Amino acid sequence: MPLSSPASELHGRHLVLVGLMGTGKTSVGRRVALCLGRIFLDSDAQVEARTGRTVREIFESDGEAAFRVLEAEALAEALARAEPTVIAAAGGVVLDPANRQRLRTSARAVWLRADPALLSSRITSGDHRPLLDDDPLTMLQRMQEERSALYEEVAEGRVVDVGSSIEAAVDAVLALAS
Ligand code: S3P
Repeated sequence: MPLSSPASELHGRHLVLVGLMGTGKTSVGRRVALCLGRIFLDSDAQVEARTGRTVREIFESDGEAAFRVLEAEALAEALARAEPTVIAAAGGVVLDPANRQRLRTSARAVWLRADPALLSSRITSGDHRPLLDDDPLTMLQRMQEERSALYEEVAEGRVVDVGSSIEAAVDAVLALAS
């Protein structure tokens, strides 16, 4: 890979996308990983693969706190990988101070930021989003209020305002990653 490529400018660190549910962390991350020639990981998928259960099943049978423990383990495992990867981190990872510390020291995080109204108009609760079952807009607004400072803390100024174009978000992430 030539020295001037974005991948080399990441200094071998993991690139992690953080942000609310529905901001496109998985679709954007997958494409960014392809562009950088890196492995892509999604922390919810990691939890599901490790436990053999869906995120919804874990929330419903064991509760959110139990899910947060599994989520932290999946993030730590992904960040411990030797090869630099692209990771779509589940929206709630920033709630745990230990996760935030790990993100700051072992990764370069980029916050995909979007208006909760836009998000609620285009996403469904789905199998891995039980928290959006009842009133998605109110929930996303509350999460935005509670988490914005936390996303900002781990992203250290690297913010992409997400609109309707995935390609535009991919380009903006690649530009920030370098
Ligand atoms: C959550 C986000 C979800 C999933 C779970 C809780 C959150 O992941 O981990 O439903 O608290 O923001 P995505 O951000 O990948 O949708």
